[in-house]
Amino acid sequence: MTDFQRPRGTRDFPPEEMEQRRIVEDGLRKVARSFNFGEVMTPTFENTELFVAKSGPGIIDEIYAFKDKGDREISLRPELTAAVMRYYVKELHTRPKPLKLYYMGNCFRYERPQKGRYREFWQFGAEIIGAPSLEADAEVLALAYYCAVGSGAVVTDIRIGHLGVMKALFEKAQIGDDLQADIRRYLDKKDFDGLDAFFAEKGLSPETLGTLTELVNLHGNRNILDKAQELMGGDCADIVYLKDLARRLNSYGIQDSQYSIDLGVARGLDYYTGMVFEIDAAGLGAESQICGGGAYSLSETFGGQQIFSTGFAFGFDRLILARSSDEEIIPKLDIYFIPISDDARLKCLELATELRKAGVSADIDLLGRKVGKAFGYADTIGARTAIVIGDKELAEKKVNVKDMATGDQTPVEFSRLLDHYQNK
Ligand code: HAM
Repeated sequence: MTDFQRPRGTRDFPPEEMEQRRIVEDGLRKVARSFNFGEVMTPTFENTELFVAKSGPGIIDEIYAFKDKGDREISLRPELTAAVMRYYVKELHTRPKPLKLYYMGNCFRYERPQKGRYREFWQFGAEIIGAPSLEADAEVLALAYYCAVGSGAVVTDIRIGHLGVMKALFEKAQIGDDLQADIRRYLDKKDFDGLDAFFAEKGLSPETLGTLTELVNLHGNRNILDKAQELMGGDCADIVYLKDLARRLNSYGIQDSQYSIDLGVARGLDYYTGMVFEIDAAGLGAESQICGGGAYSLSETFGGQQIFSTGFAFGFDRLILARSSDEEIIPKLDIYFIPISDDARLKCLELATELRKAGVSADIDLLGRKVGKAFGYADTIGARTAIVIGDKELAEKKVNVKDMATGDQTPVEFSRLLDHYQNK
């Protein structure tokens, strides 16, 4: 017989986990709305060229790319930023600026699965398009911070850097754009041996490598920006930018001790241009990065006008894993009805329908279990109360509402049942 397995790197989620995911998702949406971000949704699959345009064909190895029945090159989205920018360039560009957008969606990457790394995973992200850079960068950083903290994840570090600092160094050393992208890839993987070999192979200056290594190892509070300034041999506009950004973060209620400056943040995707950041959390092992983002340039790539854009995405699954696990799971069912005759079943259906319409959750024993067994079941599924209805209750038009935690019974008339639950 065929063994029907899930595809590698995918997961099924039971109801209690979905409940937890929904609670966290709702919390994130609330924070995004409080910053006046509006939700958008884009397709799960796109034309492959959308992802190749900036990154080159190499990206195809890392994504789910295929030909559809019409011979079109299609890819499951590995992230949503490219899609949101396509949407902006094609349809949203006439809207008043700035655009503040957020999204939640599944993404697909052809990766080697392990804890916190999947082939299908979810991202919760946000983008600001068309605002001055400093204001927009500060706003997305603040949103990411309050999302992370509000989600209950144990955040260990928020590392903020700026690709312009490295770029200034490369330009001084006359290292071209292609080589810069390769160097950033080594840095993103923290592969310093590979970087040494790359510099040697390309005949790049060892002094530049030395300064670069010192620069990317600068990681600490904002005072390290003075050290970076020295390394860069004087004025560097992007270091001044980071200092201004730090001041803005204070006004958002984010203290110096709650983030660090890390000029080694290189980011794995090719579209970043300015401020970049990553958030790490505890309890995730090797895949500790729960969020990544920064300022990027994609509008021109998709035929639009140049416009400042910045954003981030949380790995939603990692956010869930990073929450402290001792949280109580709140019982979610208000009432479990136990009918002991056919007539009683009809009454239960009537009462449950009235309560459900009013937003009270109600379930009814469907198996005709004996009362004792039915109470046992109500207990296992976390029902807050249970109600048995038999001939006596039908005759008296009254039930005993049993509190499942204390065992206390409260007599309530049928006609007052909704009131009883709504006033709880
Ligand atoms: P990213 O760093 O590639 O950035 O992905 C964002 C987050 O998605 C990561 O920090 C990680 O938590 C999560 N993630 C990535 N791959 C996986 C995986 N295979 N399994 C589970 N979680 C994963 C972006 O995608 C950018 N679009 C973010 C952005 C928005 N930048 C600007 N705007």
